[in-house]
Amino acid sequence: KKVANLTVTWQTPSNIALVKYWGKSEPQIPKNASISFTLNNCHTTTKIEFTKALPKDEAAFELFFEGKKKDDFKPKIAKFFKRIEEYCPYILEYDMVISSENSFPHSSGIASSASGMSAIAMCLMSLEKELNPSLTNEYINKKASFLARLGSGSASRSIEGPLVVWGSHPKIEGSSDLFGIQFPYKVHPVFENYQDTILLVDKGEKQVSSTVGHNLMHNHPYAENRFAQANDNLEKLSKILQNGDMEAFISLVESEALTLHAMMLTSNPYFILMKPNTLEIINKIWEYRQENNSNICFTLDAGANVHVLYPKSEITEIEAFIKKDLAAYCQKNQYICDSVGFGAQPL
Ligand code: PMV
Repeated sequence: KKVANLTVTWQTPSNIALVKYWGKSEPQIPKNASISFTLNNCHTTTKIEFTKALPKDEAAFELFFEGKKKDDFKPKIAKFFKRIEEYCPYILEYDMVISSENSFPHSSGIASSASGMSAIAMCLMSLEKELNPSLTNEYINKKASFLARLGSGSASRSIEGPLVVWGSHPKIEGSSDLFGIQFPYKVHPVFENYQDTILLVDKGEKQVSSTVGHNLMHNHPYAENRFAQANDNLEKLSKILQNGDMEAFISLVESEALTLHAMMLTSNPYFILMKPNTLEIINKIWEYRQENNSNICFTLDAGANVHVLYPKSEITEIEAFIKKDLAAYCQKNQYICDSVGFGAQPL
């Protein structure tokens, strides 16, 4: 089918890994399988206006971020388009105007590459569907995740929800290194509507870009053990998600977060990505859990912010605790209340 013009808008979420992806080989193949909660309130909205043009050697696009022309993000997107050109040759036949915005504060230390890359991928798949109306939704989601992965590995986990596995794993049916899949087993009700309050401890620029970070695993003395441990943890977590064993969930998820940071502490060069307030918060969470017999726990990304995870049933008490005892450790007392979501949505 011929398509002269098309404007599409997609909203896609960020995600938070429970078993972390850290270490990859070309082309964006993870060294271990990972699993994440898809988020709901932290998302990117991206509109692409496609206009048919003469075929070019390189994708032609303009980029607007939060209403302003944003040329410093262009090289990253250009590299992404170059990488996916062989899978989407049609992008060379359109001029594209990309306009994007995030629901979360700019440079808040929340990974925007996952939501950003997955949103572009969904927009491209909308064009592909126009060109080829017979495509199924299943194909579209799978290919969008495949494309998003080539932009940013964790972006492959931002197309669907509420739990997504990326990386081939013998105990997770249908899993692949090439795209994310919905966790294929029935999840215990305690994990429905799970809450994630993101404490913004440090909103500064990332100290370690994820490209540099993943490379640190190449000559890392603990790399092979870490990859084996992550795959092992995913197998354990798969059972926990089905049987609802909260104690096991908490210890596995917190251990994964600390191990991610341990990899950075022990790499060459080494990095400390936590801030003093990160540790204050972790200690407060542990105290609260002990004293209140709570199921609160934390996880971390490659930065100082703390994701506070808890079942919906504890929301009233834990929100009060965060406001009273944890907000003071955040920059400008800022935190974001989020919960598990269901993935990409057309607007
Ligand atoms: O998607 P990338 O290349 O930015 O890597 C992100 C890795 C972590 O966020 C630290 C962990 C994960 O699995 O999301």
